[in-house]
Amino acid sequence: RLKIAVFASGGGSNFQALAEAVRATNIPAELALLVCDKPAARVVQRAESLGVPTFLFKPKDYPSREAYEQEIVRRLNDEGIELIVLAGYMRLITDVIVKPYYGRMINIHPALLPAFPGVGAVRQALEYGVKLTGVTVHFVDGGMDTGPIVAQRAVEVREGDTEETLAERIHAAEHELLPLAVRWIAEGRVTLTDRKVNVRPGE
Ligand code: GAR
Repeated sequence: RLKIAVFASGGGSNFQALAEAVRATNIPAELALLVCDKPAARVVQRAESLGVPTFLFKPKDYPSREAYEQEIVRRLNDEGIELIVLAGYMRLITDVIVKPYYGRMINIHPALLPAFPGVGAVRQALEYGVKLTGVTVHFVDGGMDTGPIVAQRAVEVREGDTEETLAERIHAAEHELLPLAVRWIAEGRVTLTDRKVNVRPGE
């Protein structure tokens, strides 16, 4: 079973959806660690009630981003983590983590990348007036929401949508797509060559 660490900073609905999918289905994976930079975040309580160990840190307690990332990498090594899932982790990640985990770290983003990277992707899509947006799961390469794409799902923008109503449908799509992408990886069906991802069909 693939040992997974989820990094999250906020509500943690994707963390919850992934944890539940891993428990309720036959995905050969185990959610072994939550890494969180916000002690007050709701995701911390979710991890507690799901019995997932948490590495909680305050960036302000460290002299630099590299310093807390080194601490995180030590913790990932101790736990034998094989895949990192960024699910609403609202910090840039440096080479301290990207280098050792390239090809073994994915991010979920609430837009069809490369459109609307960064924060507020749902609002950006509404403001632009696109009729179709969606959800992307991609490998992390150290840029802001860049990197080889593993999976995408389209979500239609409806007449009269607000940020809330659109975000709700985007979240629903994320809660399906993230467990699916994790399943593909855990089943060894995903290969990464020359920045392109190939997914072998399942049985
Ligand atoms: C998700 O919609 C995720 O795609 C987004 O943060 C949300 C976290 O929700 N991530 C980004 O915008 C990254 N640029 P959650 O805490 O309920 O899972």
